[in-house]
Amino acid sequence: MVKLAVSGKGGVGKTTITAILAHLFARDGYDVIAIDADSAMNLPGALGVDGIKPLSELKEIIDERVRGPMGTYKINPRVDDVFEKYSAINEDGVKVAVLGTIEKGGEGCFCPENAFLRAILRHAIFKKGDVLLLDMEAGIEHLGRGTARGVDMLIAVVEPGIRSFETLKRIEKLSKDIGIERIGVVVNKYVESERAEKLMRSIEEPLLGVVPYSQDFIRADLEGIPPYKIVDLKPFFEIKRNILKVLGD
Ligand SMILES: Nc1ncnc2c1ncn2[C@@H]1O[C@H](COP(=O)(O)OP(=O)(O)OP(=O)(O)O)[C@@H](O)[C@H]1O
Ligand SMILES: [Mg+2]
Repeated sequence: MVKLAVSGKGGVGKTTITAILAHLFARDGYDVIAIDADSAMNLPGALGVDGIKPLSELKEIIDERVRGPMGTYKINPRVDDVFEKYSAINEDGVKVAVLGTIEKGGEGCFCPENAFLRAILRHAIFKKGDVLLLDMEAGIEHLGRGTARGVDMLIAVVEPGIRSFETLKRIEKLSKDIGIERIGVVVNKYVESERAEKLMRSIEEPLLGVVPYSQDFIRADLEGIPPYKIVDLKPFFEIKRNILKVLGD
């Protein structure tokens, strides 16, 4: 059982990496769930499925499950069936679901839609299964403490650039704050340079792998092809191996 949340600055390659890892784990025979928890919502495309309705748009179900009498609402609505029903299965057998927007603001934001989406996340994270991958934004605080504790490892994706490394620092702090204990780093879009080497030496968390910059990723994106169909998967095999090693499986 491996539960991974993928985070990092905008555009660093979170969705790409989530999709490729989902593919590799599924190929190994794992039962994989991939959840798009980023408001950009492009994980389904990277996994070769389309037309999935974001769970946040299920207004009627949200109303029915969450709203109580006279403006009250339930914090722990029943969501198990919702999750099963509104996910799609891709050709590798990966189960894909899209959350839609969760307002940030940690535990302080009490609105029914958020209660519903958080319940879905919680359900997915604590459900029995083999591999769960969450494609997140940098702001992982919307996981909330209780949910975050169910995540085994946060994969922080960085590009070799100053701003991306600053985001890494923020992610490290945030993860500790909400109770995620393990962080692994993936350096993506790597182009050899002394500066990049120096930045990489400053990484304190385990380095899971380095993915070189390649036009193949851009081509996959432009043509709407899942990246694992055309890019070199070698660095990702190593990342997968290292994830399992760090988690001691
Ligand atoms: N190793 C790489 N080399 C070159 N381009 C890459 C690489 N990895 C990802 N890309 C490209 O970078 C762009 C952003 O990737 P992706 O959408 O995976 O990032 P993201 O972090 O999920 O972005 P967002 O923050 O918008 O959700 C895409 O066009 C993708 O094809
Ligand atoms: Mg993305």
